[in-house]
Amino acid sequence: MAQAQAMQRVVEDVVDEMRQRSDRGEVASYIPELAKIDPRRFGLAVVDAEGRVATGGDAEEPFSIQSISKVFTLTLALGKVGERLWTRVGREPSGSPFNSIVQLENEKGIPRNPFINAGAIAVSDVILAGHQPRETLGEILHFLRHVADDPAIAIDNDVAASEQRTGFRNLALANYMKSFGVIENPVHLTLGVYFHHCAIAMSCRQLAMAARFLAHSGRDPSSGHSVIPAERARRINALMLTCGHYDGSGEFAFRVGIPGKSGVGGGILGVVPGKASVAVWAPGLDASGNSRLGRIALEALSRRLGWSIFGA
Ligand code: DON
Repeated sequence: MAQAQAMQRVVEDVVDEMRQRSDRGEVASYIPELAKIDPRRFGLAVVDAEGRVATGGDAEEPFSIQSISKVFTLTLALGKVGERLWTRVGREPSGSPFNSIVQLENEKGIPRNPFINAGAIAVSDVILAGHQPRETLGEILHFLRHVADDPAIAIDNDVAASEQRTGFRNLALANYMKSFGVIENPVHLTLGVYFHHCAIAMSCRQLAMAARFLAHSGRDPSSGHSVIPAERARRINALMLTCGHYDGSGEFAFRVGIPGKSGVGGGILGVVPGKASVAVWAPGLDASGNSRLGRIALEALSRRLGWSIFGA
């Protein structure tokens, strides 16, 4: 009980500190629907190993999870094809922006990792195989609702349509990969899955709940049920640490010291192995397209709660 109160107090302190800051960064505008979001929104949720939840600010407000969804589609793709996934996508940091095309030509259409846009499009293609896009999206939502223990999670169709209308770079990436045979389904179907899973809306609480299996060796810590093998959880966490913030991944590891995955909706999902899962939402972004205040908040939280995986 005392521990729950202490965690809630730290969360509230961090929310108060972040409210006072004015250096919020810029809300993403290349997806027109996201440009409408109020940059002052801020939410934070932590779920610990005992299932205690601490929340603050707009933690219950659903927002566009965007690239955070790539953690869950990667989990599904590994469940579907296992190690064969690594013939279609690499697992090295790119050091490049999330929507970059430059490495694809030299590397024969194989994206560097599953979290840059090209890699996540290839992952969408893998989970689409043998299905209609509607079925694949149903499977993604079903998985998220299951791990978050919340049936209310849904796709924001306005955001999906907004990105579908303007996603010319993603269209270029998908067509380019298709020319190397890395994309197997018709490009418009694969991109339909990709745009819609990026447009899933979730709150900080739902995201932190959904990532419990990554923080607890592949198991749901409340029921003890296995979601994925422990080794797979460990590897997904490794990819989040090395690639989850694109060309800002080194800085995030340096400052926060935990596996994390960002999205241009301003969310960051963090995993503290054995201890907790955490989600933060602050829509203003830095130059790499990662939440600016979100990273600062996680840095403060990590320091206070002794979360860094690199030592006290
Ligand atoms: O494809 C895109 O550009 C977006 N749907 C997702 C990009 C994203 O979230 C990058 N993360 N910070």
